Amino acid sequence: MNMAPTTNKKLLAWVDEMTKLCTPAQVHWCDGSEAEYKSLCDQMVTAGVFTPLNPKLKPNCFLARSHVSDVARVEDRTYICAKTKEEAGPTNNWTEPVEMKAKLLAMFKGCMAGRTLYVIPFSMGPLGSPVAKIGIEITDSPYVVVNMRIMTRMGAAVLKALGNGEFVSCMHSVGAPLNPGQKDTTWPCEPDPAKKYIVHFPDDYSIWSYGSGYGGNALLGKKCFALRIASVIARNEGWMAEHMLILGLTSPQGKTHYVCAAFPSACGKTNLAMMLPTLPGWKVRCVGDDIAWIRIGEDGRLYAINPEFGFFGVAPGTSRSSNPNALDTLQSNSIFTNVALTPDGDVWWEDMGVPAPAKAIDWEGKDWTPDCGRKAAHANARFTAPAGQCPVIDPEWENPAGVPIAAFLFGGRRPSTIPLVNEAFNWEHGVFMGSAAGSETTAANIGQSGVLRRDPFAMLPFCGYNMGDYFKHWLSLAGRTDRSKLPKIFFVNWFRKSAEGKWLWPGFGDNSRVLKWICERVEGGGKAVKTPIGYLPAEDAIDLSGSMVTAADIKELLRVDAEGWKKEIADIGSNYDKFGAHLPAAMRGQLDELKARLG
Ligand code: OXD
Ligand code: MN
Repeated sequence: MNMAPTTNKKLLAWVDEMTKLCTPAQVHWCDGSEAEYKSLCDQMVTAGVFTPLNPKLKPNCFLARSHVSDVARVEDRTYICAKTKEEAGPTNNWTEPVEMKAKLLAMFKGCMAGRTLYVIPFSMGPLGSPVAKIGIEITDSPYVVVNMRIMTRMGAAVLKALGNGEFVSCMHSVGAPLNPGQKDTTWPCEPDPAKKYIVHFPDDYSIWSYGSGYGGNALLGKKCFALRIASVIARNEGWMAEHMLILGLTSPQGKTHYVCAAFPSACGKTNLAMMLPTLPGWKVRCVGDDIAWIRIGEDGRLYAINPEFGFFGVAPGTSRSSNPNALDTLQSNSIFTNVALTPDGDVWWEDMGVPAPAKAIDWEGKDWTPDCGRKAAHANARFTAPAGQCPVIDPEWENPAGVPIAAFLFGGRRPSTIPLVNEAFNWEHGVFMGSAAGSETTAANIGQSGVLRRDPFAMLPFCGYNMGDYFKHWLSLAGRTDRSKLPKIFFVNWFRKSAEGKWLWPGFGDNSRVLKWICERVEGGGKAVKTPIGYLPAEDAIDLSGSMVTAADIKELLRVDAEGWKKEIADIGSNYDKFGAHLPAAMRGQLDELKARLG
C-alpha cells in the first residue's frame, strides 16, 4: 500500500471502511502520473489483458477484449435509489435505499480478495474551475484506472484541489474475487446479468457499481456521475447536466456560434461534434462529444463546459468519410475495446472505410476472415482517446467558464415523419420538442435494437430523478434569465427515409448545411416558413450547393406529414401519461396546441 496522499478525513475514513469491506490484497492511491499509467499498462500486457498495438502504426495504444456478457451499459440493472419511487420517477428502476444498501454491502463483502483496490481522485471539468466537481472512484480494475486517466483529469493534483472538501463517492468492483492461487481471467466480471448492479443514491450523491467492467457501467465519472448524479446536483443548485455534445461553428466571415446537441446513444454525436463541413469556408471545432454542464452566466446567457477529458466513442462506423477527425484523434495514446486485431498489429472494425484484412483476430479473440459470417468488431466496440488530441479541439474547450450557447439541438434516428430540421416557436415549444424526442434503439445498451423508444432530451437512461420534474427544471430556465438570452431550440433528423426506404439526407459533413441555417436563424436571418409543427426552412433556404441532394429529396425532407404527426401525437401523449401529476401542465398544453394546429 502506498501512503494515503491526503488529510481529507472523510476520504480517509471512506477508503478505510471500503478496504475493510472489500478485503483487497493491497491498496493503491493513484497519482495520475505517466509512470503509473505505463506500469499499469505493462502489468496488463503481462497478464494478457492488454495487447499492445504496433508502435509504428498506433504508438502507445492497447487492445482489450471484454467478456462476451459484458459489452454495453446495462440499463435494466441501473437503479436510482431515491427515498421514494416517486422521486426516481417512472423511467428509472428503484429499490428502497436502505434495502439496496444492505444488498450492496453483502455483495461487496470480500469482493476484492486477491486484487488491488485503486483509489482514483478525478475532476469532472477543468481542475480548479468553479464549475468542476470532484469524485473519488474506488475500483479493483486496472483497466478502469487507465481509462479514467484518459476520460477525466485524474490524480494527485485533484487531491490537492479537493483539500478537505466534498466529493462524490464512486464505488466499483468487477465482482470477481480471487481465491488464493486462483488464476485470473483477462476480463474479470460477474457473468450473470442479474447480478450486475449500477446503483445511484441521489440523496447522498454516491454511486455503487458491481459486476461489470465496461464503459458507462464502470468508468463512473461519465454516465453515473456527470449525468445521473450531476442532474440531481444541477436541479438542486439551479444548473443543467445534459447528454449533449458541444461544438463551435465558424462561418467563412469568421463569426463563431456554439451549439449544444442532444441525441440518444450511438446516433452520431461524436461524428457531429468534430465534423468536417462540406460547405466551403465553414469550420467546426469540438468542445465535447457527450456531456455538457450548463449554467447561466453573469451576462444572462447560458454557458457550457465539457466535464470530460477524453472521448469514449463507438468504433464501428468511424471512418475517413464519417469522422476523419476521430480517426486522427485515436492514432496514439488510446485504448481500444472489442475491436478486431489485424496481423500487422493494427485495429480494424466494420465500416472503417478500409478493406477488411484477409484475416484478423475478432473481438472474442477468435480467428476471423471476411467470409466467416461473423462481425470482426462488436457493434458497441469503443475507443478511449484523449480529447486534446482531436485536430479540431476548440481553443476554448478548457475555459473554466465554458462557452456561450446560441442554440440547442435535439434529435434521434427517425426514418419517417420528423423533418430534417424544425425550429421551435419559443422556449416552451422547444422544451416540448426535447420532451418528445425519440429514436430507434442501438447497440449502446443491451437490448433490442431498431425499435422506436421515447428518449426525452436523450436523457432516458441518464436522468437521476423524476423525469416529469426534469421537464419542469428545463421550463424553469425561462424564469431565471432574460428570455431573449436563451438559446433557440431546434429539432433535427438526419435519418429520414423515402417511401422506398432510401436515406434522403447524406448526413455527416453535409449536416453543416443545416447548421448554417441554424446560425442564420440565431442571427435573425434564414428563410423560414411557419408550419403547424414549427418554423421549417423555406424550400431554398438550406444551402445545397455542391451536394447531391435533389429538389424532390429536400421537399420530402421538409414535408409536414400530417398523418404521421397524428400518430406521433398519440404516442407522445401516451408517453406523457406515465408521468402523472409530475408532467408540467405546459407540456400537455403544447401537445394540445400542436394537435389543434394540425387540425
Ligand atoms: C455513450 C452512451 O457511451 O450514450 O456515450 O451510451
Ligand atoms: Mn452518450
